[in-house]
Amino acid sequence: MMKGIILAGGNATRLYPITLAVSKQMLPVYDKPMIYYPLSTLMMAGVREVLIISTPIHLPAFERLLGTGEDLGMKFEYKVQEKPVGLADAFILGADFIGNDSVALILGDNMLYGSNLEALLKKASKLKTGGLIFGYKVADPTSYGVVEIDKNGTAISIEEKPENPKSNLAVPGIYFYDNNVVNIAKNIKPSARGELEITDVNKAYMENGNLKVIPLENGYAWFDTGLADRLQDASDFVKAIEVRQGIQIACLEEYAYKNNWISKEKVLDHAKKYSKTEYGKYLKNVVDQS
Ligand code: G1P
Repeated sequence: MMKGIILAGGNATRLYPITLAVSKQMLPVYDKPMIYYPLSTLMMAGVREVLIISTPIHLPAFERLLGTGEDLGMKFEYKVQEKPVGLADAFILGADFIGNDSVALILGDNMLYGSNLEALLKKASKLKTGGLIFGYKVADPTSYGVVEIDKNGTAISIEEKPENPKSNLAVPGIYFYDNNVVNIAKNIKPSARGELEITDVNKAYMENGNLKVIPLENGYAWFDTGLADRLQDASDFVKAIEVRQGIQIACLEEYAYKNNWISKEKVLDHAKKYSKTEYGKYLKNVVDQS
């Protein structure tokens, strides 16, 4: 069984004053709270147990929003991260939650969209050994982890925010690992910016020849929403697709239903609750068309 972690911490100072009192991952991306998108991505992968990590101030709001997970046939746990000491800290904070399982980490501000994504993620979640990440071609990769791969899709170099990137494959904030990740995270040292870098975790896997990279071809969308412009871009993207096609992106109940985690009746209950919105209408359609 693969477990999931959503890291929704940090102070989001690059979005001040929006995030002075509200968690970034709670901000709207068009018509839903941001965290719905990464949560739906984990659900697409078939991950049913999720740990949500956030700051002491913001964590209670996530608990109010998402609850126990029972409504989605899932199980949610919550954990405070006292200080934003890096992404790899998620595996240390989550060690008990992970137990002996493999784990997928997704950043609460990352959004992925694409037609074949569900199949890709389902396959990734079957991972038994090693690590698996994605590579996404961007014009300017300097503010991301940057990976270089050989023709078999194995990583041969990975660097965090390099000034002179060796490739233009940026690493999106979704990572799949075997259970060794807990020990690896416990053994890495803070970087120059004082963080336990996910890139150092990936490096450890790479050095053992165990880091697989799946390049996301053209046609996938990846947004990280850490800047006001990017947040707006993500909202515009979601709006364009939802309005044009009459669908909903990141409809949690839809994935819960498709995964057979909740009944038709439950979906209809939710549809009633959201009846004044397109989300509610869409939920009704999900059942009617199944
Ligand atoms: C983090 C990671 C980076 C990754 C990015 C994806 O960057 O360190 O490797 O490419 O997330 O959003 P940060 O958000 O800490 O700048």
